[in-house]
Order: sequence, then C-alpha cells, then structure tokens
Amino acid sequence: MRSFTLALATALPFCSAQLHLEAKKAGLKYFGAATDSPGQRERAGLEASYAQYDAILRDNNEFGQTTPTNGQKWLFTEPEQGVFNFTEGDIVTSIAQENGLIQRCHALVWHSQLAPWVESTNWTADALRDVIVNHVTKVMEHYKGKCYAWDVVNEALNEDGTYRESVFYQTLGEEYLKLAFSTAAKVDPDVKLYYNDYNLESPGNKSEGAVRIVKLLKDSGIKIDGVGLQAHHVASRPPTLDQQIAVIQSYAALGVEVAYTELDVRVELPLNSTSLEWQKQAYKNAVGACVQSPACVGITIWDFYDPFSWVPAVFPGEGNALLWFEDFSKHPAYYGAIEALKNKTGGHTCKPKARRSRDAVRSNRLYE
Ligand SMILES: *[C@@H]1O[C@H](CO)[C@@H](O)[C@H](O)[C@H]1NC(C)=O
Ligand SMILES: *[C@@H]1O[C@H](CO)[C@@H](O)[C@H](O)[C@H]1NC(C)=O
Ligand SMILES: *[C@@H]1O[C@H](CO)[C@@H](O)[C@H](O)[C@H]1NC(C)=O
Ligand SMILES: *[C@@H]1O[C@H](CO)[C@@H](O)[C@H](O)[C@H]1NC(C)=O
Ligand SMILES: *[C@@H]1O[C@H](CO)[C@@H](O)[C@H](O)[C@H]1NC(C)=O
Repeated sequence: MRSFTLALATALPFCSAQLHLEAKKAGLKYFGAATDSPGQRERAGLEASYAQYDAILRDNNEFGQTTPTNGQKWLFTEPEQGVFNFTEGDIVTSIAQENGLIQRCHALVWHSQLAPWVESTNWTADALRDVIVNHVTKVMEHYKGKCYAWDVVNEALNEDGTYRESVFYQTLGEEYLKLAFSTAAKVDPDVKLYYNDYNLESPGNKSEGAVRIVKLLKDSGIKIDGVGLQAHHVASRPPTLDQQIAVIQSYAALGVEVAYTELDVRVELPLNSTSLEWQKQAYKNAVGACVQSPACVGITIWDFYDPFSWVPAVFPGEGNALLWFEDFSKHPAYYGAIEALKNKTGGHTCKPKARRSRDAVRSNRLYE
C-alpha cells in the first residue's frame, strides 16, 4: 500500500496552493478539519506521526477552522446527570484558540454518543425538558465566546424525512427541537445555531425534513442560523454538483446559511486509480457546490489524516476517506478540492508549467 500511494503521489501535479488560503480567496470563511484529543483518536501505534500531523493541523494556510470530533458530545460533557466534564472538549478548544482557528462546536442534542443515563431513564416530559435545558445551558456557557457555531440538534431525521424515534422525540415530540434551539439562543445570542445531519446533500425526503425543521423553528419565532451538511459521501455514488447546488438553494431560500460540516468520501478497499479518481470528483463537486453557493460559508473535513478517520471502524472494507494518506502524501482528491476552490477565482489549476525531465517530475518540482 505504501509504495502504491507513493507512486500515485509522485504522478500528481504539485500545487503550492493550500486549502484555507484558496477557500478565503474564493470567498468562504474557512476550510477546516475536525480533530480529536489524543485518547479519542484511532491513534494506537501511530504516535510517531503526531508531530507531522500537528504541524499540518496548525498550518493556517491549510486549515482555518476546526471542530472537536468527540469531546463536546453528551457522553463526554455530562456523563452523569448534573456532572459536567469539559476535559476532552477543552483540548481541541485550546488548539483552536492557540492557533487562531475558527471553532465549530458539536453537538448538543443527539441520540448517539449520548450518556447512558439519558436513555436508561423513563422520563416525564417535564423532567426531560429540565435535562435538555440544563445540558444546553451548562455546555454552551462553558464554551461561550469560543465557538463560531453550535450544532444544536444533530441527526433528528430518518432517511424518509420523518423524525427519528430518539428518547427526545419519543418523550417530547418535535417540541424538543424548539426547546433546544430556544435555550441555545438565550445562552449565547452571538453564536450561529445549526441543525446538522447526514444525507442532506441532495434534494429528497430527508432534505425536505430539514427544510421542515427550519420552518418549524422560524414559524415559532425561534432562532436558527444554519443547516450543516455532514456530507459523509461514498466515492462510487456521491451526490452530483447540481444536486448539491440545488439543495443548498432550498435551505438558503429560508434565510439560513449552510456549511459542509463533516465532509469525507470513503472508498472501497483496496484502492485503485479509478476509485481515487471518483473520490477526487466527489471532493471537487462538494467543494465546488459550496463555493458556487452564496449561502455556503465553509467546509470542514472530518479529520484530514486517513489513520485517524472514523470510517474503517464503522464501515469495514472501506477507508481512505480523507485527504492525507498514512504516509502524509496527499490524495488526488486534495487537488480536486483545490481545483474547485480555484475555479471560482479563475486562478491556475494544478497544471504542468513546462515539460521537464522525469527526475523533475519525481521530485514534484514540475508543477505549480
Ligand atoms: C473527565 O474526563 C477526563 C477525560 O476523559 C477524565 O480523564 C477524567 O477522569 C474525568 N473527570 C472526572 C471527574 O470524571
Ligand atoms: C421504563 O418503563 C418500562 C415500561 O413502561 C419498563 O419496562 C422499564 O423497565 C422502565 N425502565 C426503567 C429504567 O425504569
Ligand atoms: C419519500 O417518502 C414517501 C412517503 O412519504 C415515499 O413514498 C417515497 O418512496 C420516498 N422517496 C424516497 C426516494 O425514499
Ligand atoms: C476499483 O475499485 C472499485 C471499487 O472502489 C471497483 O468497483 C473497480 O472495479 C476497481 N477497478 C479495478 C480496475 O480494479
Ligand atoms: C467551475 O466554474 C464554472 C463556471 O462558474 C461552473 O460552471 C462549473 O460547474 C464549476 N466546476 C466546479 C467543479 O465547481
């Protein structure tokens, strides 16, 4: 695998362009990467790569934003009722603060990675209301002033657009969405409040469900500022550029902004040059849809380094969903993202500037 990815990398054009720098030029607020505190990453045996990993994460031309992949989730922040623990979330928040990265904060009310006590109690409606208000309040107060946006409610929808039967929905119906957002707006009026979900990247029943949620809140006079498209795509069947532009428009029409919040494109293993090309197109189209949509403020990839991705553990037989291979060479998809960003500004794409010797190609100096 190592020699395969290296051979591929040397066949690629070298681009001096970097993601956040080009994203800013294209009019976005940021291009970012989620990251995690060391104990939570799939890092076993990879300690030797930390220094190189950390340098890329902290390169402000590459990334201008980060999100804690795990540390602000309920499981970590309120593991027992009324007992709050911000250790994990604070690690990534410190990285953001020290390196001038915009932080998207994630996620307040979600059925998954939820503390077990929330699901194992038979709540009355009143008791669960108190639990939601207390959780949203304490967590948001702790991170006040340190977040650009909060994912207030995460993954409330089934694929057909109906509401997921979470403990929150079963006990309170759609009232829980109103309660979470209205509480969040009270605690921190300055932070952007998002509804975040996956498979919201093409028009269909689920995207219509997200539209319904935005309308529900707006019609009730409750603040919602954005729809987060997680965008966990599959290289062999990603949404098209046009589908993504159309769906972003359907959210923007309601007066909210949009962000790609967890972009990755998983590939069936073993990799081959065809599937890597599919992946490149998928990244190019996701990034391109954001760049071409005035409502889309930025793009976050869900970590950037393949070995730290959630994908292999959750989808056996798939992987390499991110932009850096294990040996820190870049995926072809990295250049797909750059091309989509440069497409907006009419800048150079990563094309050969002159024909030179094969050695020059190998040393990657042929291109700019
Ligand atoms: C808080 O979380 C950290 C990191 O997960 C853990 O090491 C620590 O023991 C926790 N603190 C308490 C008081 O449980
Ligand atoms: C919750 O209620 C159901 C039946 O209404 C019961 O079977 C279950 O044991 C209860 N769970 C708890 C944790 O009390
Ligand atoms: C959308 O939902 C309707 C029911 O509301 C169902 O009949 C239809 O098959 C769904 N479409 C897709 C593409 O899942
Ligand atoms: C490359 O991988 C894809 C799966 O990602 C597979 O469908 C395709 O047949 C493979 N092509 C070759 C030439 O092995
Ligand atoms: C590149 O820009 C052109 C013109 O704005 C547009 O038609 C095309 O879809 C863009 N391509 C991508 C991948 O964004």
